[in-house]
Amino acid sequence: MASFLLHLQVRLVLVGLYLAVVRLIRRCVIPRPPILVTDVKKCHELFATTTLEKRAALNQRLVVAFGIENGFTTTNEDVYCSFRNEIEATLERNSNDYARKDLRDLITTSAQEFLEISAQTHRSILLINLVRVAVFRTVLAMFFPEVPRLSDEDIVFVTTKMNSLWHDSKSPWKIFQARYFPTQSPIIRDKAQLHQRLKLVFPSLRGRKSILACENPLNILLPACMGLFRVVLNCLLEVRFRSIPTDFLEYTHLFQQYLKDPNDRWPVEENDISVQQIVAETLRLYPPTRRIYTQREKRVIAVDIEQVHRSSEVWGEKPLEFDPRRWKREGLDTIQTVEYFPFGGKIGSPAKISRCPSRTRGGPKLIAVIVGSLLGVLGDEWCLVMQVVGECDGDSMLASSCGSKQP
Ligand code: HEM
Repeated sequence: MASFLLHLQVRLVLVGLYLAVVRLIRRCVIPRPPILVTDVKKCHELFATTTLEKRAALNQRLVVAFGIENGFTTTNEDVYCSFRNEIEATLERNSNDYARKDLRDLITTSAQEFLEISAQTHRSILLINLVRVAVFRTVLAMFFPEVPRLSDEDIVFVTTKMNSLWHDSKSPWKIFQARYFPTQSPIIRDKAQLHQRLKLVFPSLRGRKSILACENPLNILLPACMGLFRVVLNCLLEVRFRSIPTDFLEYTHLFQQYLKDPNDRWPVEENDISVQQIVAETLRLYPPTRRIYTQREKRVIAVDIEQVHRSSEVWGEKPLEFDPRRWKREGLDTIQTVEYFPFGGKIGSPAKISRCPSRTRGGPKLIAVIVGSLLGVLGDEWCLVMQVVGECDGDSMLASSCGSKQP
């Protein structure tokens, strides 16, 4: 009898242990969905009360996937401040007409070369690759001027890996696999290939066995490129390929005017429309960060920027349509309209965290320079031959659009 009870006890303990392990794995692999917040007052409250701890915990997926340590992943106040200060200083340095003219010329030359070389071997090109090359060269010129010129092939390789790792890092299962079964993990494989290529092209990393998190160039490349890819691609698609011919001519003319003298003021509106509103309308419909995640009492909460930006209560009729004129018509303003926050927390909110430093240091004008330069290079020679209809986010960009030289 005593041995039967002992057996029973052991079995019960084993079953209990088994259930606990299953629950733990389930919690890791299928976390509870976040609470989505669309109430504007609550959204701003959440921005204002975000802390490094709340954000870093949710961004550990980026540490696993990219091997980074930056302001998004750290709880260390000093690491955060030096990261933010370095970025603010560089953005500030590049936020003037001289720097913008240099960037305009760099983007124009490199996009022309990209198209010429691609056209020799292919009848069509992926539009996203043109955008990636333009954005990546812009970010390198600003933040890593010491890096020698990369080939387009290197840039497409690096940015494609960044995109697939970004996508994979959102899957709790893939992160679980990377942590506990690294030899089977596509994340670990892609990270190794990405680091390998970075070591070849960044002189400071040559000869290194591995890249230390604190010196990983992805610390900066990631927020800068991910902030720009989606919005540049969508602005180009809306202006160049989806607008009716009269709007296309008007928008293109405005960009041309702006690029002639890209100074600190936005050019004056013509016919109720300006480049500023074209960029703002793109950021409204396609904010690069669709949701900003934070935590409250162990629950994950997401400020649903995209949802707020698409509500008909604020944005008037047909909120899903790209219509830069709505800004003037509805009396909207990029600063005063509290329902517009593509850069996270608004200026004046107490916390810096969750407030993009590029907002007041030339971010919107950088978008205008890249889009304007690409519009100039594309001219009216190229047409869109294939487009995947549906959500066009950072992940679906890869296959979303394709340019082809008209016969
Ligand atoms: C121009 C388009 C851009 C948009 C719309 C944008 C948007 C955002 C948003 C929404 C956040 C808050 C994210 C969060 O807390 O989870 C953010 C943060 C940040 N962004 Fe941007 N971004 C852009 C470009 C850039 C660029 C070019 C850089 C340059 C490196 C940059 C650097 C950062 C940094 C460092 C943060 C963290 C701020 C902090 O917590 O202190 N962004 N951005």
